[in-house]
Amino acid sequence: MYDTCFNNSFTNGLLFYVLLLLLILISPLLFIWELIITIRSSFQRHENMSGKVVLITGASSGIGELMAYEYAKRGANLAITSIEEPESRLEQIARTARELGSPDVLFLFADVSKIDECRKFVDDTVKHFGQLDHLVCNAGVGPIYSLDIDISKFEPVMDINFWGSVYPTHFAIPHLMKTNGKILVNASSSGVLNVPKAGVYGASKAALISFYESLRHEVAPKIAITIVTLGFIKTNIITSKYSTSTGGVSLRRDIGAVYPTMGPEACAKALVDGVCKGETSITQPRFIKALYLIKCLFPEVYTYYINIYFASGFDKLQKSA
Ligand SMILES: *[C@@H]1O[C@H](CO)[C@@H](O)[C@H](O)[C@H]1NC(C)=O
Ligand SMILES: *[C@@H]1O[C@H](CO)[C@@H](O)[C@H](O)[C@H]1NC(C)=O
Repeated sequence: MYDTCFNNSFTNGLLFYVLLLLLILISPLLFIWELIITIRSSFQRHENMSGKVVLITGASSGIGELMAYEYAKRGANLAITSIEEPESRLEQIARTARELGSPDVLFLFADVSKIDECRKFVDDTVKHFGQLDHLVCNAGVGPIYSLDIDISKFEPVMDINFWGSVYPTHFAIPHLMKTNGKILVNASSSGVLNVPKAGVYGASKAALISFYESLRHEVAPKIAITIVTLGFIKTNIITSKYSTSTGGVSLRRDIGAVYPTMGPEACAKALVDGVCKGETSITQPRFIKALYLIKCLFPEVYTYYINIYFASGFDKLQKSA
């Protein structure tokens, strides 16, 4: 039956158009469905984080740091990690988290791209607190890709963004199974939207989405996984200073000077709220979720416009202000 259908170019094409027609017919339901999810989520109970244990990677700046504070305000114990750098503020962040209400904060230096270091910080966390409730895989880098840059400069992106989330997750799962824990993974809207100049970065994030969407089935219903896809958030990663430190293209202006960005505090709060409710995915700013659908339904139109939008913006980013 399949054979005859797919080998005949008429029926092969017909099936596609029939499915497309069905999609158009049910699309009003999609709108209602999204409304229902939003309303349901606003009534959903938050997990009580008081006395729970949360491990956050890449907590020395940006969203990772702010998520630590959000969890601290909810009374959670924290283990925060980041790579050891001379100007590292991890100790100071631990102090602030304690002041905000966290009973106990452990800070650990580790390179998430090294498997042994990941095993160690997961073990150290459980040894110290006796349990693990949430794992926040947040650490990441984002160099801007260009054809004329030595390709080997981009190798760490996969190691840090992809393996740097998968390793700690792998070692944390046995502990999270015991507590019916949760995992938040930091993917990116560029893992779905395939924007120009984000080739390697976007690929590492697309790999994360694929890995964790699949892992969900292995660990459900004990462990809930929240996949986060963010747009431009006003943190150090979108500054020109950051871009010059990565080995990728150097920008002369901050991305926030050209593109609209979201404030990091509101974003961190939305993330911790979402994980505590056990949401399967979070996209911020929220309009980006509509772009996913547009890309999916009208790929040619999407590709045409995204190129125009980013090419002109990128020109401005390369000129000094
Ligand atoms: C949260 O849990 C703590 C201790 O486990 C308890 O003392 C507190 O009352 C709980 N808070 C709520 C709002 O249920
Ligand atoms: C995710 O990683 C990017 C870098 O890849 C970073 O800028 C951002 O703060 C991280 N956190 C979240 C929750 O997206």
